[in-house]
Amino acid sequence: MAETIAPHGGTLVNLLATGREAEQLADRAEHHPKIRVGERELSDLEMLTVGALSPLTGFVREHDYHSILESMHLSSGLPWTIPVTLSLDQDEVKRIGGADAVTLLSAQSDRPLAVLEVEEVFRRDREKEALAVFGTQDLDHPGVRALHEAGDFCLAGTVRALRLPEHRTFARYRLTPAETRAEFERRGWRTVVGFQTRNPIHRAHEYIQKCALEIVDGLLVHPLVGATKGDDVPAEVRMRCYEALFAEYYPKDRAMIAVFPAAMRYAGPKEAIWHAIARKNYGCTHFIVGRDHAGVGSYYGTYDAQKIFDEFEPGELGITPLRFEHSFYCRKCEAMGSPKTCPHGDEHRVILSGTKVREMLRAGKRPPVEFSRPEVADILIEAMRAGA
Ligand code: ADX
Ligand code: MG
Repeated sequence: MAETIAPHGGTLVNLLATGREAEQLADRAEHHPKIRVGERELSDLEMLTVGALSPLTGFVREHDYHSILESMHLSSGLPWTIPVTLSLDQDEVKRIGGADAVTLLSAQSDRPLAVLEVEEVFRRDREKEALAVFGTQDLDHPGVRALHEAGDFCLAGTVRALRLPEHRTFARYRLTPAETRAEFERRGWRTVVGFQTRNPIHRAHEYIQKCALEIVDGLLVHPLVGATKGDDVPAEVRMRCYEALFAEYYPKDRAMIAVFPAAMRYAGPKEAIWHAIARKNYGCTHFIVGRDHAGVGSYYGTYDAQKIFDEFEPGELGITPLRFEHSFYCRKCEAMGSPKTCPHGDEHRVILSGTKVREMLRAGKRPPVEFSRPEVADILIEAMRAGA
């Protein structure tokens, strides 16, 4: 079966060196100045390495940085909405000096991960980046806060990797884009819908996934497992919820789980495009965008992350967004639905705020079965009890 969707820019990137190149790279890595990469940027390094960010082959240069912020495109003309940068502070810039390459390490280990060929060091434009990516400069926004804490400078250049960052979790779910593509092909799926999530899967999530699955061959539930904000449910707990649901309620030949190593930006519309492009690289032909995708607080309109897809020419993104309105269970319909399919008023609809749900779980109370399956509620109640 032929490949059903081309990676962004046409070629799936793989930055992992092998054989002789890897040996030479390991030797070189010992001699270059060392830079420790923080948790969020380590996720980006991993995504770059496996080709999830194709066509990028490294951390972006200044002209691309500005092109992304000003036009949502790389300077090559390809859509791209969030700059992928490697931050340096003033001291690190000094320490690197005029080196033509640096070795990248994680915070936890001295084993070199990658060598970056230095192309340039440039100054970050925080104000411009915050407004373009997040639409706000408010330091209460978790993405703006992370940007504020990042170094003043960006180190740009192509990367060759020696290994992926080490993980002790989710080993069997850590599929690279080449691996998800191969798995889709093995399963004979020509069309695949990707589902991004940073939350436990409640009935509304399950509903929109299954609506989407009615019209495509397969479903990839692709939870983000990089850094999230402190009050989001930890990935380990979420993974237990996903597994419990898959065991009882998902068709094995039509649905699979893999993890998305990215850190969460909370950039709403800009992140929805970035999420979609990355899922295209993983081989998805369709991508679910529901209410307030990648949103936080009330920074974005409920459907802004859907509307932004209209700002691109047809075919420019390649992957097809599947837009879903705010979904819920309606007691009068006796079914899941949305304002698009349910004519009844809010008094019939089971809609709970995240705050309300957390409150109930913390008190050891299951939310209504129309909101969350008991298997999921029990895992969350147990996790809260253990964490409290
Ligand atoms: S996030 O990346 O968008 O922050 P989250 O887990 O909250 O992840 O949502 C996953 C996906 O489900 C997103 O596309 C979001 O828009 C969609 N979604 C979440 N809740 C609902 C809902 N009640 N109705 C419709 N779409 C929803
Ligand atoms: Mg959400």
